[in-house]
Amino acid sequence: MVKVELLKELDNGIRFYSMENESLKIVVVNMGCRIMEIHTPDASGNKSDVILGLKNIEDYADDPAYFGAIIGRVANRIGDARFTLNGKTYELYANNGKNHLHGGKEGFDKKIFDVTPLENGLRFHYFSKDGEEGYPGNLNLYVTYTLNENAFSIHYEADTDADTVVNFTNHLYFNLSNTLDKVNDHYLQINSDYIGCVDDTCLATGELLPVKDTPFDFNKRKRIGQDLEADHIQLKNAFGYDHSFVLNGTENQLTLEEPVSGRRLIISTTAPVVQVYTGNFLKDGCIGKAGRVYENREGVALETQLMPNAINTEENPSTILRKGDKFESNTKYVFEIM
Ligand code: BGC
Repeated sequence: MVKVELLKELDNGIRFYSMENESLKIVVVNMGCRIMEIHTPDASGNKSDVILGLKNIEDYADDPAYFGAIIGRVANRIGDARFTLNGKTYELYANNGKNHLHGGKEGFDKKIFDVTPLENGLRFHYFSKDGEEGYPGNLNLYVTYTLNENAFSIHYEADTDADTVVNFTNHLYFNLSNTLDKVNDHYLQINSDYIGCVDDTCLATGELLPVKDTPFDFNKRKRIGQDLEADHIQLKNAFGYDHSFVLNGTENQLTLEEPVSGRRLIISTTAPVVQVYTGNFLKDGCIGKAGRVYENREGVALETQLMPNAINTEENPSTILRKGDKFESNTKYVFEIM
C-alpha cells in the first residue's frame, strides 16, 4: 500500500507531495519534479534522509547543483552551446562557460509540472514549447514516480511534433550514511568497461576510454575515495569523477553501499549511460538541508541518461527524438540493507 498525500500548495502552483509505504518515504515538489527527501532504514531500522537538498523551496530558484531535479531538455553539456540538426544550426544559451548545461538558462529543473496522483505514486507532465531555450519542436515530457516495496522507479516518456534533441535524467545526490560525511567511504560497483572522456571544461569529447587498469574501473566494488585523487588526466579535467560510464547489461548495473549505516542502493536502468558525479563543485552551492553549504564530495549523483553532447559527437546521435516517435526510459532504485 502506498500513501500519496498532498502536503502543501502555494499560490504560484507549487505543490508538495509525499509518497510513503512501509519501506520508503519520498517527498516531492512539482517544480522540476524535484525529489526533496528519501527516507530509508539503516541496518538498525532507523529511517533517515539519504539525498542532498536545499533548506528552503525559494532557494531552488537559484540552485547551481540541480538537487533532486529532472533535467531537460538535454542533460549535461552541449559543446559551444550549439548543435546542427537536419542541416539547421540551433544556438543555445551558454550557462557553463562556453557550453550549454542541463537545459540552459531555465531548464526543466525550474519548471512547474502538472501533477496527477496515482495509486502508487505521482505522474508529472510538462509541455515545452517549440523554441524554448532554443530547441526545436513542441515537446511533451511525462515523468512518473512510483513506489513498490523497497523500490522507487522513475519512468520518462516524451513525444515531439518536430525532430528535436532530448536527454533526461534525475539529478539526485546520494549520501547513504547517517553522518553525511563525504562519500569517499561509500563503495560503488558499476558494470561498465568504458567511460566517455571529457575535456577541461567537463565537456564530453565523444572519445571512449577503456576502464581497465584506470581509476575508472568499478567492475569490482571499490571505495569511491580509493582512486579519486589519482594522477589521471580525466580526473584532473573534471576535479574528480564527473564522467559517463557506458553500462553493460540491463539490470542491477550499479550498486552504492555505505558499510557503517549498512545501506545499499541498487540501480537498474534502461538508459545506456550513467553520469557519476562526485559533487566536485558542491561547495559553491546554496544552504543545504543541514543548515550549511555542502562541502565538495558530500554526495554522489548517479544520473542515468544518454551520452552527453551526443548531438555533436555521435554519427547517429542517440539524443535525437524524431517527430512522431516516442522516447521512453526507466530507472529503478532499490534500497536494501547490506
Ligand atoms: C555535471 C557536472 C555539473 C553538475 C552541476 C552534473 O551532472 O556532470 O559537471 O557541475 O551536474 O550540478
